[in-house]
Amino acid sequence: MRYVTKSPEQTLKLGYRLGKKIKSGNVVALIGELGAGKTVFTKGIAKALGVKGYEYVNSPSFVIVKVYRAKKTSLYHFDFYRLKSSSDLATVGYEDYFYSDGVSVVEWADRAMDVLPDKHISVKFKHLGNNKREIAVEKSKCKNKKLQYKIF
Ligand SMILES: Nc1ncnc2c1ncn2[C@@H]1O[C@H](COP(=O)(O)OP(=O)(O)OP(=O)(O)O)[C@@H](O)[C@H]1O
Ligand SMILES: [Mg+2]
Repeated sequence: MRYVTKSPEQTLKLGYRLGKKIKSGNVVALIGELGAGKTVFTKGIAKALGVKGYEYVNSPSFVIVKVYRAKKTSLYHFDFYRLKSSSDLATVGYEDYFYSDGVSVVEWADRAMDVLPDKHISVKFKHLGNNKREIAVEKSKCKNKKLQYKIF
């Protein structure tokens, strides 16, 4: 599904809607350039999961993963921006997060797509100028358009 948002608030709301639909153990790959809205979208997911202080979720940048505890689940917020390749992840133990009961959200997932589980939700962001962003949400490995992940 493709959406166009016209403000950060609308992007946060879209993240919130996805956050209400996703299940524990889901992995969400966020792909798009600097300032595209990946972190704003993650705040919406955090809000939906019930993370207290979701407004303060920011790009992890200097650590590869930040953990936020919520009532029923955990949010694992990754940022692959600084990775040169997936081999930089050797010591992170990312599998423990991806294949756990928590929700994993990965900014700059395209830097190391090979480590993501085949089954994940991909969210691609494009600047459309000013405050407009195109946001495309799809289930990975899903060739059949009818089965695309509908978030509302
Ligand atoms: N429609 C929109 N959706 C999301 N953010 C928007 C929108 N319009 C303007 N913005 C602004 O764009 C910026 C998006 O920043 P954000 O940190 O979410 O980007 P990012 O993709 O995480 O970047 P980075 O790769 O640096 O982590 C914010 O300053 C936000 O206010
Ligand atoms: Mg970010």
